Amino acid sequence: MKELNINSQFTIYENINELPIQVQNILKEAVKIREKAYSPYSQFKVGAAILLENGKIILGSNQENAAYPSGLCAERVAIYQAGSLYPDITIKTIIISAASDTKETSTPIPPCGACRQAIAEYEIKQEEPIEIYFTGETGAIYKSASLKNLLPLLFNKNLL
Ligand code: THU
Repeated sequence: MKELNINSQFTIYENINELPIQVQNILKEAVKIREKAYSPYSQFKVGAAILLENGKIILGSNQENAAYPSGLCAERVAIYQAGSLYPDITIKTIIISAASDTKETSTPIPPCGACRQAIAEYEIKQEEPIEIYFTGETGAIYKSASLKNLLPLLFNKNLL
């Protein structure tokens, strides 16, 4: 018997001004699209902005449904849009911004498990890491240099 230790590493930016200027600009896009979320049930808005290698930015916000599981998270709205429009272009960065309508979210809001699995699919497909930044409405921004930090022992096509 032995133990397996898997470490995850994150960079913490105290506020938006600490981010590289290009990331600041993309975060602003994520905030703008976040405000267009359709989230009448949770009153929780999420925006995702994806930077592609060709410089395009693909945006998404969470879309809810009266049949709750039919809704979709912002990250998957955005990444499936990127995968549909630009299937052969590398995804460099995803920036996620979340805010509640009912309370201040001042801790970084990470992507849910299902979104991590979706992002993993593209990272494995393109054989290049995807940087992930996530934050709340205020406060620190966390950066992971790869999806792998967020989903150790991930299920992937090589296991099929
Ligand atoms: N949500 C996202 O858009 N991304 C996540 O990673 C977590 C949750 C959305 C789904 C739902 O519309 C609302 O936030 C509350 O769960």
